[in-house]
Amino acid sequence: PKITYVAADRSEQTLDLPVGTTVMRGALSNDIDGIVGQCGGYTQCASCHVYVDQDSAAALDPVGPEEDEMLEFTACPREPNSRLSCQLKVGEDLDGLRVLLPERQG
Ligand code: FES
Repeated sequence: PKITYVAADRSEQTLDLPVGTTVMRGALSNDIDGIVGQCGGYTQCASCHVYVDQDSAAALDPVGPEEDEMLEFTACPREPNSRLSCQLKVGEDLDGLRVLLPERQG
């Protein structure tokens, strides 16, 4: 599935990620700046914060309780389309997903 990462300066990078990884891991293993993922994907850090493109948001699983709690600690303001990218599991249904990276994660 193809995931597009849009940096805060609007530059874009599209990756074809394997099913089963997460949007956070995909970024880390492809040197995408703008996602830190400090806790390794355990909803403990909020440094994997992204804004999901509105058109893509419907395809995603809803925000879980731990994710919801940690989204209160993002470095950039939380918006209705804020997600923790470590909780976005890549499947075929996410093909075409666009995520906007916040200006900073810490
Ligand atoms: Fe830490 Fe997502 S990587 S909350």
